Amino acid sequence: MGPMVKRQLSADQILATGLRNQWYAICPSDMVPQGGVHRVRRLGIDWVLFRESDGTLRMLEDRCPHRGAPLSQGQHLGSKIACAYHGVQVDGTGKVVSVPGLPGCNLEGKTLVPSPPLQELGGAILAYIGDEQHPDPAPVALPDPLVDEEISSFLCYAEWDTPWRYAMENLLDPMHGAFLHRESHSMFGGDTEARFRIRETDRGFFFEKTDQRGVNFDWVEFCRTGIDWVDLSIPYPPTAGPGGSFGIVGMGTPIDAGTTAVFFWRYRKVSGWERDVWRFLYRTRLEARHWHVLEQDRVMLEAMAEDADQAENLYQHDLGVVRLRRLYRKLAEEQAAALGPSPSPEPVPAGRA
Ligand code: FES
Ligand SMILES: [Fe+2]
Repeated sequence: MGPMVKRQLSADQILATGLRNQWYAICPSDMVPQGGVHRVRRLGIDWVLFRESDGTLRMLEDRCPHRGAPLSQGQHLGSKIACAYHGVQVDGTGKVVSVPGLPGCNLEGKTLVPSPPLQELGGAILAYIGDEQHPDPAPVALPDPLVDEEISSFLCYAEWDTPWRYAMENLLDPMHGAFLHRESHSMFGGDTEARFRIRETDRGFFFEKTDQRGVNFDWVEFCRTGIDWVDLSIPYPPTAGPGGSFGIVGMGTPIDAGTTAVFFWRYRKVSGWERDVWRFLYRTRLEARHWHVLEQDRVMLEAMAEDADQAENLYQHDLGVVRLRRLYRKLAEEQAAALGPSPSPEPVPAGRA
C-alpha cells in the first residue's frame, strides 16, 4: 500500500468529516470523463479522479508531492498527471515518475501521493478511505440489492448543504415520511401515529414500526458492512408499473463539515419485459416525483440550524437516530484515540522569519 493521508483528527473532527477505515461512495462514475480530471472534496480532503487511457479509474489526494499544488490543475497525460506548477509527474498509484526540472532527482520512483483503492458499483465510484494505521482496505460486503442481477436500479446523486450527521440521521427516521412527504404519491397512506423498535441483525439493525409494514416508509435497515448504507422500501401503487414495492439503498458521504454527498439507488426486482417497462416508467414518470421528495429532505435539512441537535427533546421515534449517534460517537473516539494526540506544530525552518 502507498502512503495514507496524514491527519491528526479529534473525535469531533472525525464525526464532522466522516469515520475513517471504511468504504464510501465518492461520486457517480460518469462525472469522471475519459481524458479529463474531476476534483472532489470528500471527508474534508481534496481528491482528483481520472481515468487512465485504458479506462482504469484512479483517485489521488489532490496535492502535488513537490509543494502541494492541486494536481487537478495539471495535465492529464494518459496514465499520469503533470502538475501545472513545476511539471512533476505522478502516476495513478501516486508514484512520482518524473521531475522534469531536475532529472534524476530522488523524488523519482517514490510513491508519495495517497491513492485509495477503488471500485465501481451501480454507477458510482466507491473508495476506501483509511487512516495512517489502516492502509489496507477493509473487507466490504456491497449492498446486496446493488449486486443482485435480478434487481434493476437507478442512482440519484445530490450534494446537500447539511452536515453529514443530519443526512445520516434523516435516513434513520422513517416517521418523517408520513409528515414531510405526506403529499407524495407513495407516502400518503397509513397511520401518522406509530411505535418503533430496534431489531438487531448481524450487519446492523432494523428500525421499524411495530404496528405497520408495507404501507408507508415503515422500516429502515442500517447496515455496516465495510461501507455504511441503509436499505428501505416504499410501497408503490400498481400504476408505478411491475415489481411491487420499491427499494432504496441510501448512502451519505461527508464532503466537509457542512456538506454531504448523498446517493440513493431506487431499485426494483424485475426482469425481462417487466424490467423494460419499469425502466421506461421510471424515466418518464417516476424520476421527477422522486426528485421532488428528495428536494423536501434537502430543503428541510439545509434549513436546520447547525446546532439544531444541541437543544432537542427526543421521543420514542428517535431511537434509531440515538442508536446511530452512539455508534458513530464510539467509533470516532476509538479512531481518534488510535491516531494519538495531535503533534506539536512544525518548527519554523532556520533562516525564515
Ligand atoms: S508543486 Fe507540483 S511540481 Fe511543484
Ligand atoms: Fe425523506
